[in-house]
Amino acid sequence: MKGVVLAGGKGSRLYPLTYATNKHLLPVFNQPMVFYPIQTLVKAGITEILVVTGGPHAGHFIRVLKNGKELGVSHLEYAYQEGEGGISEALKLAEDFADNDSICVILGDNCTDAEIKTNVSAFKDGALIFLKEVPDPERFGVPTLGKSGEVMEIQEKPKKPASPYAVTGLYIYDNTVFDKINQIKPSQRGELEITDVNNLYIKEKRMKSTILDGYWRDAGTFKTLFEANNYWAHKQ
Ligand code: DAU
Repeated sequence: MKGVVLAGGKGSRLYPLTYATNKHLLPVFNQPMVFYPIQTLVKAGITEILVVTGGPHAGHFIRVLKNGKELGVSHLEYAYQEGEGGISEALKLAEDFADNDSICVILGDNCTDAEIKTNVSAFKDGALIFLKEVPDPERFGVPTLGKSGEVMEIQEKPKKPASPYAVTGLYIYDNTVFDKINQIKPSQRGELEITDVNNLYIKEKRMKSTILDGYWRDAGTFKTLFEANNYWAHKQ
């Protein structure tokens, strides 16, 4: 399995912090934010990684990550997303890199200490998403769960969440993910949504879910960036 870290977008929620560099290079305690998703992949045994980025500071990634060896990455590639057309648009750039293999995708602002090695080893086909109970599900993709806990649908940032769970930005996909990206259309906010791709897997009954076991923050707001800093500062 190969790994894809999505680190594009404008980071406008974090202006003025992101005027001078990319959001994913801001500090989370003693490391740049993007180290955390890369470490999640490397700890799971995934060492061939593509980082998709964009915007005016894309070159900063090479200065920070170099060839990835210091983080245990055996093969590091970069792709450049023009504009901010959504998570699925960024993921589309990984098609050649994936080369028909399955991929583990993680959003560059998702910081976790959860171990996913067993999930990665057990993955065969379809898709696997990781859920986490949160106090503010309306900020996320939210699953509607059936009687036996199966995911029946995902709604992106619903006003009235159907469950207290967030779909975290950590996904495992088989190689049909790229056909699915080609089928979806931009949402009302003008983005190719990852939630629409996930709903196609659900329709095919090829989506599984599990609870992410560990600390998890999407460090993309001032408050959650602060919380993630605080967590790792006290974990040492
Ligand atoms: O963090 C989990 C949530 O991430 C999920 O629950 C949502 O379903 C999913 O849509 C996403 O929601 P956000 O609103 O937090 O996504 P955001 O626009 O902040 O983008 C998250 C990361 O995705 C960002 O750090 C970099 C990457 N990204 C995003 C966009 C819009 C790209 O690489 N390119 C893009 O065009």
